[in-house]
Amino acid sequence: MLETITPQPPDKIIQLSQMFRSDQRENKIDLGVGVYKDVQGHTPIMRAVKAAERRLWDEETTKTYTAIVGDGGFHKAMGNLVLGDSAAADRLSFAHTPGGTGAVRQILELIKTAAPDATLWLSDPTWPNHPAMANAVGIPVKTYAYFNSETRSVQFDNMMADLRMAEPGDVVLLHGCCHNPTGANLNKAQWGGLAMLLKERNLTPFVDIAYQGFGDGIDQDAYGVRLLAGKLPELLIAASCSKNFGIYRERCGLVITVSRDAGQARLTQGMLSRLNRLNFSFPPDHGARLVTMVLTDPALCADWQAELKGIRDGMAGLRCLLADALRAETGSDRYGFVAEHRGMFSRLGLTPEQVVTLREDYGVYMIGDSRVNIAGLSPERIKVLARAIVAVGG
Ligand SMILES: Cc1ncc(COP(=O)(O)O)c(C=O)c1O
Repeated sequence: MLETITPQPPDKIIQLSQMFRSDQRENKIDLGVGVYKDVQGHTPIMRAVKAAERRLWDEETTKTYTAIVGDGGFHKAMGNLVLGDSAAADRLSFAHTPGGTGAVRQILELIKTAAPDATLWLSDPTWPNHPAMANAVGIPVKTYAYFNSETRSVQFDNMMADLRMAEPGDVVLLHGCCHNPTGANLNKAQWGGLAMLLKERNLTPFVDIAYQGFGDGIDQDAYGVRLLAGKLPELLIAASCSKNFGIYRERCGLVITVSRDAGQARLTQGMLSRLNRLNFSFPPDHGARLVTMVLTDPALCADWQAELKGIRDGMAGLRCLLADALRAETGSDRYGFVAEHRGMFSRLGLTPEQVVTLREDYGVYMIGDSRVNIAGLSPERIKVLARAIVAVGG
């Protein structure tokens, strides 16, 4: 059997990390993998998470399985974080999953089961795992225009024109905030226009929110998802706790669905339970316990919010420093968008050849489409980076 297996294409981001690790140059810069790093290049455990972990060590009395869709306290705390009071609690259903990736996968399974003829519409570009997983589940995919590589901003009119061609019943995947890989996001008016179109055309929104709190603020980053929850009869949400709680390896994510009414929500809950059972049975508990403790203890929550604000402000500051340095080096404002974008990523708009030259000649590592992880920068390296970008013709 195994002899039929053919070599699989290597994951480009993991490959890039390996190349970075084996690069002996001291002044190399890693702008590749999407993990937050502080100015020392370290991915810290957040203070409130560490405190919760100590408490859990004392208080936890059993390691028996949690519920099949995870713990109700976790659902409530995360439902509140993501949705606030935008949808009635009895319309919500939940499934705790291994990471946001697991949540995306379970939603795709749900779509395949509930709407086998639906097409999934993805932004161009999007996180590469979106089309890859849709393909693995057998869901047809189409793309809608999103990022204008000339202006490095959202081409909203073209996006709307493409989505007008979607068939009623199709599903539209949207990044809740901090679009990966571009960093370009919808503004409030655009979310409003989009909500109207989705409703008119009977399209189901599917919001992937993996960076809540990394953009403009916890509530600000949830503006779009909350608007859709308030205005549309149905909504699918994949939330990740990896980045905003810094618990990447604990694999903590959540499916939240908003159904038309309480009766439908109960049926949806039953299907989510079944899908968890079929795919991995019980979710990992540790990360969810920590998140629940942090969100429900006022002191821990305040400290988490303060640390998250520090992370967010730090990245916004790095963005401004990089935009300024590029303005000084190029004598133009063509990289001004770096300061406007939000979250960890921006797509610089360099050619694949320029990306390779930056890596080989300057030890600067970024994804082939010129996506950079802003958190990979430190203030003292920004000038060096700006000079290198200009030197390769960027
Ligand atoms: C857009 C998007 N969705 C989902 C995820 C899932 O993250 P995780 O599975 O680590 O929680 C990521 C992480 O890179 C992402 O960028």
